[in-house]
Amino acid sequence: MSAAPAPVGGRTVLLIVCGGIAAYKALELIRLLTGAGLRVRTVLTAAGRQFVTPLSLQALTGEKVYEDLFSLTDENEMGHIALSRSGDLLVVCPATADIMARMAAGLADDLASTLLLATDKPVLIAPAMNVRMWDHPATQANLATLRARGVAVVGPEIGLMACNETGPGRLAEPPAIAEAIFRHLAGPAASGSLTGRHALVTAGPTHEPIDPVRYLANRSSGRQGYEIAAALAALGARVTLVSGPVDLPPPPGVTLHRVETARQMLAACRDALPCDIAICAAAVADWHVAQEATSKIKKTAGAPPPVLTLVPNPDILADLSAPGPTRPALVVGFAAETDTVGQHAAAKRQRKGCDWIVANDVRPETGIMGGQENEIILITDTGAEPWPRMDKHAVATRLAGRIAAFFTPDMPSGRSPS
Ligand code: CTP
Repeated sequence: MSAAPAPVGGRTVLLIVCGGIAAYKALELIRLLTGAGLRVRTVLTAAGRQFVTPLSLQALTGEKVYEDLFSLTDENEMGHIALSRSGDLLVVCPATADIMARMAAGLADDLASTLLLATDKPVLIAPAMNVRMWDHPATQANLATLRARGVAVVGPEIGLMACNETGPGRLAEPPAIAEAIFRHLAGPAASGSLTGRHALVTAGPTHEPIDPVRYLANRSSGRQGYEIAAALAALGARVTLVSGPVDLPPPPGVTLHRVETARQMLAACRDALPCDIAICAAAVADWHVAQEATSKIKKTAGAPPPVLTLVPNPDILADLSAPGPTRPALVVGFAAETDTVGQHAAAKRQRKGCDWIVANDVRPETGIMGGQENEIILITDTGAEPWPRMDKHAVATRLAGRIAAFFTPDMPSGRSPS
């Protein structure tokens, strides 16, 4: 984890710990925050108390722990309105489906919800819950409401949860939550935040039908594009993900459009404009079959096998990169190459008119195509930057950080109304 940026030391975080098996990770978060010189005040909900004790919070923060809305002593020392404004940032970790619903509805029936309603400070939540609770339309609607009101969201991550189900819902790792807190406290200029920006990401292969049961495809897993979409959303961007057929759960907090063919992918991308950032990570098929058969092509004994005539697909990256009123401020392409990777990728950047190219070596022995790891060269207008081999999640996080750094707060937004 990187150290806290200089300006955050000495600031105060008001940390609300809700009930959930992930609550114990709030203790690790506190250590990271206090270790970076932050003051941490904690509020423990009744459910949170089932998972962590006030004593542990007090021992780690060196501060009184607030629990009760109607505590005479607490109200004497500091009224709940004053408490709600006593931090520079309110953080809810873990944020349960319940607190998200109560925040969205504006309830104020315990100390935590009252503080969240009364505060005039920014709020960041780190959701954690069962995958079905997270996917439920009620939770997703609450999430959208909170985001629209400016609440920052970090995570959840996709993975195996305590309930033995896998999917989105696992609390982000404490170092990632701490990073998000540091970025917020450092302010928008230093934060590299993408709040208010709209990002369009393409991912996965395309399927080009031959007849109703057969198609042309490739080995792309979509993993890198999905990770990028999630990383951009984690930095506050509104993300539209246009995905070919893949076997991956939708990344949290992202609007997903599923398509099959390159032509459908192009149409969905054009529909998503305007956007500030376009990242074309999809492995789009270069051709489709000229005449798709409307019924299954049958083998006929003695007859020659069918001949497929292929015609070129539209180039989505080149289309989005073309100059015009809706051209995104930053267009990033990928270059999957098997030889002279840097050279081919640099030529591709020129040919397609995009701003950056993420080049990778997809020879089978690298295990990159369809694998968990990636080793890229980032090619920009200032040159080629080789990155060490790392997992696709780490590549996505680093790339999202670079994209955020590209956008200075004074750059106009191409964001469409959501
Ligand atoms: N791309 C696209 N639409 C296409 C083909 C490619 O948007 N019809 C995008 C990919 O998403 C990627 C970049 O273009 O960002 C490069 O894709 P790649 O398959 O490496 O290149 P090709 O255009 O297929 O060129 P070549 O076959 O010569 O390597």
